[in-house]
Amino acid sequence: MSELDLVVRRALVATAADTFEADIGVKEGRVVLLGRGLPAGLREIDAAGRVVTPGGVDAHCHLDQPMEAPARMADDFDTGTRSAACGGTTTVIPFAAQAKGQSLRAAVADYHRRAEGKAHVDYAFHLIVSDPTPQVLHDELPGLIREGYTSFKIYMTYDDLKLDDGQMLDVLAVARQHGAMAMIHAENADCIEWLTKRLEAAGRTAPRFHAQARPMLVEREATHRAISLAELVDVPILIVHVSGREAVEQIRWARAQGLQVFAETCPQYLFLTAADLGIDDSYHGARCVCSPPPRDKRNQQVIWDGLNDGLFTIFSSDHAPFKFDAPDGKKPGGAEVPFRHIPNGIPGIETRLPLLYSEGVLAGRLTLNRFVELTATNPAKAYGLHPRKGTIAVGSDADLVIWNEREFVLDNAALHHAVDYTPYQGQTLRAWPGITLAGGEVVWDGSFHPRAGRGMFLACGAPSLSPARTRVVP
Ligand code: URP
Ligand code: ZN
Ligand code: ZN
Repeated sequence: MSELDLVVRRALVATAADTFEADIGVKEGRVVLLGRGLPAGLREIDAAGRVVTPGGVDAHCHLDQPMEAPARMADDFDTGTRSAACGGTTTVIPFAAQAKGQSLRAAVADYHRRAEGKAHVDYAFHLIVSDPTPQVLHDELPGLIREGYTSFKIYMTYDDLKLDDGQMLDVLAVARQHGAMAMIHAENADCIEWLTKRLEAAGRTAPRFHAQARPMLVEREATHRAISLAELVDVPILIVHVSGREAVEQIRWARAQGLQVFAETCPQYLFLTAADLGIDDSYHGARCVCSPPPRDKRNQQVIWDGLNDGLFTIFSSDHAPFKFDAPDGKKPGGAEVPFRHIPNGIPGIETRLPLLYSEGVLAGRLTLNRFVELTATNPAKAYGLHPRKGTIAVGSDADLVIWNEREFVLDNAALHHAVDYTPYQGQTLRAWPGITLAGGEVVWDGSFHPRAGRGMFLACGAPSLSPARTRVVP
């Protein structure tokens, strides 16, 4: 073999399965050798015994997704993937969202235009199916699945996106027939609307009432209904952004029946509570308005338990970036508005891995291997990108994170997204990527090294997750 392009020496390599000391040999963007005492490369990086994990795969993030005016996502493919890279994520999977009345293919073409030439790390697309017409069900969706869009999100809430049960069954049947992965946003839209109207009638419109309009019951009911619909169709599903105990119990129940129900959770359900939406009527809490809303400390523990025992398959950011102090952000048109009109979502693409590494691995709540499985390997498998992505193995892309373990206090000024706040401001972290490599190129080493267009579109294959199991069922 001709000379290696790069050797990362003295790495403590962590995969979902193993932790071992090795040098990592890279050629033409891929890992080609793993072992001790590799020959010299054209370039050398000394990891000096530090942990090296696969680059993160953020399988749930929203970048430059078209919004109803005046709302606009703060991050596009440039700033969003810059932020991802600086936080150790080297593959992102945002959503090509179909507007009602729009062709799914038109939504995909539009989304490619938004990404083209801008991304600093590789990207794939999920679809959002909001209008399952016969044309979409029989032609567009099967065709797009064949072309590498092998996952799609179905919403049970939000007027502009939600499907009724019959529509969900139709879409799930396509997932079954063509081997796609259906991701479900499980909240009961009618209950939310009923509660919202009652809160509004009582003058309760401050951001904190967002959490009261979406209690766990609405998530529990929709989770159970989604599970039942999937059982009827006999298709695996993945419940996204699970927030706490009641939804977790439904998923555990489904697993106990032998149903293939996978689950994802996100940092906001570990590190935020409903109190972050406000304990009084101040508008500050609009920063943390997301759906489902964060719950309480006891529910945070339920989420930690599920991450540890195998209930959760994937840990994503659900990065949905809106500026706080902006007319196209959390203050639509420049005004402090009733919670119903606050754009839903919080930023977190850059902080996802450091938060979980710090409070999961270094605080002793998760093994290093489980961290890799949740943040890289499983998302790559669920969406047909493994083993090219999500692991460190001969033949996989040289997407690597070399970790620095040191304590510091998080400040939004140090982040690289285009959002004017982080919900995790002031949190003490114990680790941050020292170096992120994407396809063997250094994209972050304390400074960001931009190359818009470095990131390429990835066509996804079939999901390759192992059957859903929970290691401990209480
Ligand atoms: O509040 C959230 N989660 N916003 C992003 C859109 C979604 O439903 O994931
Ligand atoms: Zn959602
Ligand atoms: Zn989302």
